[in-house]
Amino acid sequence: MAKRSLSFVCQSCGATTLKWAGRCESCGEWNTIQEEQQAGGIGAGPKTASRSKGRVVPLVGLSGETKEAPRIITGVAELDRVTGGGFVKGSALLVGGDPGIGKSTLLTQASAHLAFQGHNIVYISGEEAVDQVRLRAERLGLRDAPVQLAAETSVEDILTTLEDKKGDERPHLVIIDSIQTLWTEMADSPPGTVTQVRASAQALVRFAKKTGTTVVIVGHVTKDGQIAGPRVVEHMVDAVLYFEGDNAHQYRILRAVKNRFGPTDEIGVFEMSDMGLREVKNPSAMFLSERSATAPGSAVFAGIEGTRPLLVEMQALVAPSPLGTPRRAVIGWDSARLSMILAVLEARCGVKFAQHDVYLNVAGGLRINEPGADLAVAAALISSLSGVALPLECVYFGEISLSGAVRPVAQAASRLKEAQKLGFGQAVIPDGNMKEGSNALGHVKGLEELGDLVANIAA
Ligand code: TYD
Ligand code: MG
Repeated sequence: MAKRSLSFVCQSCGATTLKWAGRCESCGEWNTIQEEQQAGGIGAGPKTASRSKGRVVPLVGLSGETKEAPRIITGVAELDRVTGGGFVKGSALLVGGDPGIGKSTLLTQASAHLAFQGHNIVYISGEEAVDQVRLRAERLGLRDAPVQLAAETSVEDILTTLEDKKGDERPHLVIIDSIQTLWTEMADSPPGTVTQVRASAQALVRFAKKTGTTVVIVGHVTKDGQIAGPRVVEHMVDAVLYFEGDNAHQYRILRAVKNRFGPTDEIGVFEMSDMGLREVKNPSAMFLSERSATAPGSAVFAGIEGTRPLLVEMQALVAPSPLGTPRRAVIGWDSARLSMILAVLEARCGVKFAQHDVYLNVAGGLRINEPGADLAVAAALISSLSGVALPLECVYFGEISLSGAVRPVAQAASRLKEAQKLGFGQAVIPDGNMKEGSNALGHVKGLEELGDLVANIAA
């Protein structure tokens, strides 16, 4: 019998320690370490080495016969965009997100689309009974979709069932909803623990590679790390998609954070409705729909997400602070980046924020990672501080350096074209983008425009 050992496993990152601690040394999370029993350690295999030899093939010999990876195109355009053109056959994907964000809804819709196209789709739900899954499909108007449903939580049973399907019955796509509900005999700990999640995911990924079936694994993420974080699964799968959004808004963003077969900066935009998730064809119009016309502190950033231009409103509020150390709060942007912009405005332009609370918000619950948003943020900050609203039909982009220079950004022309399409007639852009910009939009302006505002405040 395998030797049983006790160990302490972080439920967020999967790190193992010999003694309990309040804080995981590996990922820094608090209260995530739990005692788990392991049979001979994680992934313990048979004692004797496998007799079959690993076969090596020359890399050059492959070049003649390799083609584009074959893909399963779901027909949900925003999902296909994020995966880089559809699910790659034989790959394993993780779809993560907060509970209730819409993971099951999205995958039910994608499965139904594929099943209607004639693909064999198996949807395995460990969370909901078959009837509940069917009810959801019915509510989505997809009752007649020929998707195979199963409510099952044992990995061994799932794999036996799937491997029994031969020939024409062989599944093309298997959806596992969710990894936290699965358990495997290979690990001793209870379902939902990191050891179980890891062992189950390993078995599923192995199945995908061996059979050429695409496996989509759903994983819940919680901020407090109560449920075993799918972090440990991220390393095993070929692609990781995160479904984001907040409950205050109807829109949901699907973002690829890892993708072996495609880009990782692409986003898909959906809107949750009573008929399930609807694709948003024109996200810029949606993100700007709630813009308040004449309020100071609002600047429209012409950004790029993946291959698609996207306009979003950056909102700033700068208010005198009663506190010794003024507050800085950011939603949807990097707080270190905000501190940097404030410091540059103070040091290079003489605009002082030291006595003011500063709040920054990206409207619509979107997260912006692009440094090109610096100029729009600076414009919003200056506008709020001075109490002067920025021109309504103007967009901003440009990266601000520590020296105070505004650096050019990529794809200026397509940013400006998108702005023009939505009725914007002006842009304040870096000098380095002027040539490209003038061709795309009639009224591009240099930074003097903002300079006048700054001069007023500093005076
Ligand atoms: P669900 O896909 O079950 O979330 P997850 O699998 O990520 O936990 O979505 C649940 C939420 O979506 C729930 O709050 C209800 C809402 N919803 C709609 O608004 N419209 C719909 O058509 C469906 C199916 C769900
Ligand atoms: Mg669900």
